[in-house]
Amino acid sequence: MSRVSRNQTSRSIGLSLLSKMGIVAFPSLAAALLILAKAGCKTENIELAGLLHADFQPTLDVRLRATPTETQIHPGEPTHAMTYEPELISGDASQVAKLTGSYLGPIIRAHTGDRIRVRLENALSEPTIIHWHGLRVPENMDGHPRFAIAPGKEFVYEFEVLDRAGTYWFHPHAHGTTGPQVYAGLAGLFLVSDAEEDAASLPAGEFDIPLVVQDRIFDASNQFVYLPHSGMMTDGVLGDEILVNGRPDFELSVATRAYRLRLLNGSNSRTYKLSWSDAAPLHVIATDGGLLEAPIARQYVTLAPGERLELWADFSTYPVGSEVMLRSLSFEGADVGMDGMAGGMAGGHEQHAGMMGMSGMGDMSVAALPNGAEFDVMRVRVDRAEVVPQTLPNQLSTFARYRFEDASNATSPRTFAVSLNMNMSMGSGMGMQWGFDGRTFNMREVHADEVVKLNELEVWELVNETSTMAMNHPLHIHGAQFQIIEREVMPEFSAGWESVRQGYVDAGWKDTVLLMPGERVKLLVRFTDFTGTYVYHCHNLEHADAGMMRNLQVLP
Ligand code: C2O
Ligand code: CU
Repeated sequence: MSRVSRNQTSRSIGLSLLSKMGIVAFPSLAAALLILAKAGCKTENIELAGLLHADFQPTLDVRLRATPTETQIHPGEPTHAMTYEPELISGDASQVAKLTGSYLGPIIRAHTGDRIRVRLENALSEPTIIHWHGLRVPENMDGHPRFAIAPGKEFVYEFEVLDRAGTYWFHPHAHGTTGPQVYAGLAGLFLVSDAEEDAASLPAGEFDIPLVVQDRIFDASNQFVYLPHSGMMTDGVLGDEILVNGRPDFELSVATRAYRLRLLNGSNSRTYKLSWSDAAPLHVIATDGGLLEAPIARQYVTLAPGERLELWADFSTYPVGSEVMLRSLSFEGADVGMDGMAGGMAGGHEQHAGMMGMSGMGDMSVAALPNGAEFDVMRVRVDRAEVVPQTLPNQLSTFARYRFEDASNATSPRTFAVSLNMNMSMGSGMGMQWGFDGRTFNMREVHADEVVKLNELEVWELVNETSTMAMNHPLHIHGAQFQIIEREVMPEFSAGWESVRQGYVDAGWKDTVLLMPGERVKLLVRFTDFTGTYVYHCHNLEHADAGMMRNLQVLP
């Protein structure tokens, strides 16, 4: 294995051009000491991963066939999509809910302590692998891109559910194709329950409603259009139509009572700023890693790609026959801003593409519904009376708060900074690519700064200060839930930040955090239970596919 990657070569060629363009410089190459991922280099790891172990006694055993399918979304022609087709092998059938008529799903339900076996069968014509977003699983069960399986192959997951109750999810994670596969329909929820959640007596059964929010573009014959909306670098994919649970014009019919609404932003690149159309407060009860200690009321909530939020929605005071919309409000600063770049932002894409010699990069037009635009997400129709006295508990859960002073590196936070890199290997030509600290994804490479110690509490600082081309980035860390302790923004970016920050819910466990342009976030994180090679990446899936992902190695 060569220690000089193609990335490095392209980096040095790109450096002079970069500095001419005034783009944030890379750390010097001399300082970029590269070490090889020990776990990643053990090929036997890959060969042994994904096998069925007869001595593993699953409480739930299910086959998920990743397969092309056709689904009726709009009247007329069915839409070609991809889906996970579930088949229960053993366990309780209620733990695997097919979403009839939707390409999404299934919904897998488990209890903390359950032993899960999932047999992923790749019936697609391209490689795939599943990542269990938010769950703590052994490295070879985590869906790292190095485990992607070829068409016709099977990968068997076997893991115990260690995490607390919460709304987790699963989706593909093969490098370079995660965006298109999720867009085509590969995504499902993994809902974990536990005793503490049971004790909170939240609305359950049909009153516990998962809502997967996504945006899509359809062509005239009802087919998904996947446009990696690109200028000089990948902005991401933005649809102009909002789907909830795979359905357009989604309507939820409710009774006059309380509901638990589990929101997942399953969009590739779009961030939502959700609010009720009647200005009722949103009562947040859970974030990525489960229940908050106590509910938090907000006028709006900010939900970035990959993030989850759960709401307590009480319709008991609404008259039967009334309606309320869940809307996404407008906000600033989400899309690429090119201060100091000729052409500016809107309409400048084609010029930049030409300037950078990037042809064949897909459609260069500006999105029809830009990130930060205002639109309706779904309609709630109160259509029946039901008297169920149920009040929002003041206490939902208890968990240990990490303390800054307990961090082993409290005086020198581990920093990961969003960077804009030169890249020579993107398809037809040279381009720009988002990364971290001047680096982009390499299947095997782990930098010295990307090695952490098992069970050590650390403070991390995630930084989005690429001021030449600012964009928002939802950053996701595999292998641990973390606690956010501080946010800060550069003064010149405060307008965008101010337009979303009151919607941040940082009081709970998180695995994904939005960084607006100019923002830095401090968090406390500890990797427990498993050593091995995981990843951290941007959950703008087109950014991740283009290389905005790095290995993260947990050592004993
Ligand atoms: Cu939901 Cu590695 O991602
Ligand atoms: Cu990003």
